Amino acid sequence: MNYDFDTLVERRGTRSDKWDSYPADVLPMWIADSDFRSPQPVIDAIMETARRGVFGYTRADGAFESAYAGWMRRSFGWDVAPERVLWCPSVGTALAIAIRAFTRPGDGVAMMLPIYPPFLRLCALNGREARATLLRCEDGRYRIDFADLERKLAEERTRLLLLCNPHNPTGRVFEEDELRRVGELCLKYNVVVFSDEIHGDIVFSGRHIPFPTLSPELAAVSLVGVNASKTFNLADLRSAAVLSENDALLEAFARERDSLKLGRCSLGVAGVIAAYEQCADYAEQLREYLRGNLQFAVDFLHAETPEITTRMPEGTFLLWLDCRRLGLSGNDLAAFFLEKARVALNDGETFGEGGRGFMRMNAACPRSLLEEGLRRIRRAVRG
Ligand SMILES: Cc1ncc(COP(=O)(O)O)c(C=O)c1O
Repeated sequence: MNYDFDTLVERRGTRSDKWDSYPADVLPMWIADSDFRSPQPVIDAIMETARRGVFGYTRADGAFESAYAGWMRRSFGWDVAPERVLWCPSVGTALAIAIRAFTRPGDGVAMMLPIYPPFLRLCALNGREARATLLRCEDGRYRIDFADLERKLAEERTRLLLLCNPHNPTGRVFEEDELRRVGELCLKYNVVVFSDEIHGDIVFSGRHIPFPTLSPELAAVSLVGVNASKTFNLADLRSAAVLSENDALLEAFARERDSLKLGRCSLGVAGVIAAYEQCADYAEQLREYLRGNLQFAVDFLHAETPEITTRMPEGTFLLWLDCRRLGLSGNDLAAFFLEKARVALNDGETFGEGGRGFMRMNAACPRSLLEEGLRRIRRAVRG
């Protein structure tokens, strides 16, 4: 069937974090949920529970795990057994659990900046030291500085690498040889890899490679965090998963999760099962719609506001806007977009080093809304 990504679903006044955190005349293009209606089988699955009217405890009875495993196999050729899928409320929670399960207080956690802000915040909140390497932008494309990454991995007490692929916010989809080099270094220094692959379905160039599929050796030292949420707009269903080919890693992860009493799933699992088993066509059409949106935004900014530079992301529905030529610093840049343009974007500074002077824009919305946001930005830049 053909899905409608053009019609705006009114979300103001619904306790939507995206839409209800700013005044009504501000266009929200920040937090990474989409504005698209989820596919009908997902809605039906949730409605079925709601109609029954009983919201007692749910169990993940194997169908949930099979749905994630099946999606991995069909999308990326990763033939992972359902027994190797663990329910987790969210990938954000999984990052926190991984930090606690695979490091001790005072240990180092490697990551590549700029990065989705919880990577840094969760290390700080858990008393771990972020050992960050800066992605280097060469000809507009971010690349891993392997010499620096090696230094960070070699440091005493670096025990975990939090990888993000596709990478938020730069939109990089790491290539096989890059991932292999990262993996070799992690093997060399005995570092566990937690690979956040939540944006893995949203790839426009290259292909998404789940980290454990690179080799049996790398499968043995890695876990992957995924969530149907980005693709099908299900963040509120709180039904993510962590997968690993290594039983000991999975067990350690499950133990930490359960020690926090975070192992209980919810009715959201029904939505994920419906999405993965019945809605592959939605994911395909979404990808094409997003490709159009992102290209439109890139072309618009290039033609109309050359002070802001960006390029088509290889993956994710996020644009990483280099605003340094606007000549505004720190709070002034965020204020420029919010107060003058009346669009809410994510402030690049919150993504750590390499984020200053940048803003992140979420393009997962109807094209008309995206156009309105871009027009507002043009108006603000022009005067
Ligand atoms: C890279 C990345 N990881 C994790 C998350 C959060 O996902 P969840 O809602 O499953 O915690 C996001 C959301 O924007 C993200 O971009």
